[in-house]
Amino acid sequence: MLSIAILTVSDKGAVGQRQDKSGPTIEEKVEKIGGKVIAYSIVPDEIEDIKVALCEMSDQKKADVVFTTGGTGFSPRDVTPEATEAVIDRKAPGIAEAMRHESMKITPKAMLSRATAGLRGKTIIVNLPGSPKAVAECLDIILPALPHGVDILQGKTGECARK
Ligand code: MTE
Repeated sequence: MLSIAILTVSDKGAVGQRQDKSGPTIEEKVEKIGGKVIAYSIVPDEIEDIKVALCEMSDQKKADVVFTTGGTGFSPRDVTPEATEAVIDRKAPGIAEAMRHESMKITPKAMLSRATAGLRGKTIIVNLPGSPKAVAECLDIILPALPHGVDILQGKTGECARK
């Protein structure tokens, strides 16, 4: 069973001016594949706050996967990819490449997400865009591959044999 942490990055969400609908969308999607949400937090679009939360969710909570939502666009306040890049040990570019490539079939605006993904210790960190619609679309694209990625990262399998 995958343990999942959700980090919603939103200035308005962090002060209670906007209800977070994207966090619950992530929870719904991961529960459908047997995942369990072990941590959930909302932080403002501040690089230090995001970094601290990502480290806590990876190192203390030991989530298999941390999903962030929001802060991947072009607004001057959007710094989620920079915070993620600052805390990962290794990049996992294929995850964000797949999200953008497949999402472009739905909307050309998919190219406007600067989302990144990477590995910190035994945790995969993935940026998702901010809207619940985008979150659902992106998770449909990447969730089929993530459990295998977790197994390889954590040394539970070295086999990639096709069935
Ligand atoms: N990806 C998918 N699959 N579906 C979407 O609707 N919206 C895009 C993009 N990625 C979208 C998407 C839009 S409009 C923006 S501005 C960027 O994600 C960045 O979103 P963010 O700043 O909320 O992270």
